[in-house]
Amino acid sequence: MTPVELSPAGPQLSAIVAGAWRMAEWGWNAQQRLRWINECVEMGVTSFDHADIYGGYSVEALFGEALALAPGLRERLQLVSKCGIKLVSPLRPQHRLKHYDTSAAHIVASVDNSLRALHTDHLDLLLIHRPDALMDADEVAAAFTRLREAGKVRHFGVSNFRPSQFELLNSRIALATNQIELHPLHRAPLHDGTLDQCQRLRLRPMIWSPLAGGALLTGSDEVARRVQAVLQAIAQRHATSPATVAFAWLLRLPSRPLPLAGSRRIEAMREAVAALELHLDAQDWTEICQAASGHEVP
Ligand SMILES: NC(=O)c1ccc[n+]([C@@H]2O[C@H](COP(=O)([O-])OP(=O)(O)OC[C@H]3O[C@@H](n4cnc5c(N)ncnc54)[C@H](OP(=O)(O)O)[C@@H]3O)[C@@H](O)[C@H]2O)c1
Repeated sequence: MTPVELSPAGPQLSAIVAGAWRMAEWGWNAQQRLRWINECVEMGVTSFDHADIYGGYSVEALFGEALALAPGLRERLQLVSKCGIKLVSPLRPQHRLKHYDTSAAHIVASVDNSLRALHTDHLDLLLIHRPDALMDADEVAAAFTRLREAGKVRHFGVSNFRPSQFELLNSRIALATNQIELHPLHRAPLHDGTLDQCQRLRLRPMIWSPLAGGALLTGSDEVARRVQAVLQAIAQRHATSPATVAFAWLLRLPSRPLPLAGSRRIEAMREAVAALELHLDAQDWTEICQAASGHEVP
């Protein structure tokens, strides 16, 4: 798999990124986690998506423990993490309620924690996890600059930002991506300016929950069932799987998204990678939208 440029200024990531959010639920030991990482890397999925809060502040350390078993592996990977959400957790007794914190002090402290947990000296990409009404763009830009100058983080971006929120921070410091939710059951970013902005700035969006957390393929409500029937039919026409068609639906977009595949099953990661070879024409693509919306395009 050829690595791709997330933005004209980098970083280079694998065209399919592995999401580590659910890793704590997998109940694996460090050797099993290392095997999953190695098998991803062998198929070209070399970029891994994290956040400080995943697994209630536990996933980065689980991943880092596995990485520490394989000296030299870190150099073959690109590590993405996020900060800005504070969870109520026994590990953070000072948090009274879930809230956001995009202060420079928190951003820098969170990155230091991530580096320690992941057993690495730098992140390839750091994202502000969610828009924060209390975010001071100058303060965030100053924290990013400090982290870059210290060699701790190479590139910066955001997640779940609306175009105006993205514009504000991007006016202070160049951002590499907006990581957003997008799948046939959640199509708002196709029309709300989010993807237009990415295309205009030549930044690729990163896409979370590309299978709607699994509901796209297993959901039992009417809309999910309609979409499943169409994914099945298209998969049959192309001799592939419905999951591969779902990833190809994202990859067809001209903003050239990077989907995050979040399965513990290597076979499912392979289905995501297979989508890089599947081109959907406009009729296949629209048929999926039509199944989701319940009506033809105007
Ligand atoms: N920035 C944000 O706010 C944000 C939010 C959420 C997630 N993320 C990132 O996005 C990544 C991906 O999100 P996600 O895990 O929700 O992705 P997803 O691909 O939509 O969902 C993965 C889930 O679907 C199941 N699944 C996968 N393939 C399947 C299939 N063929 N049939 C049935 N079920 C299937 C998986 O179970 P199995 O493991 O059993 O296959 C897993 O539980 C996360 O790991 C995280 O890195 C970011």
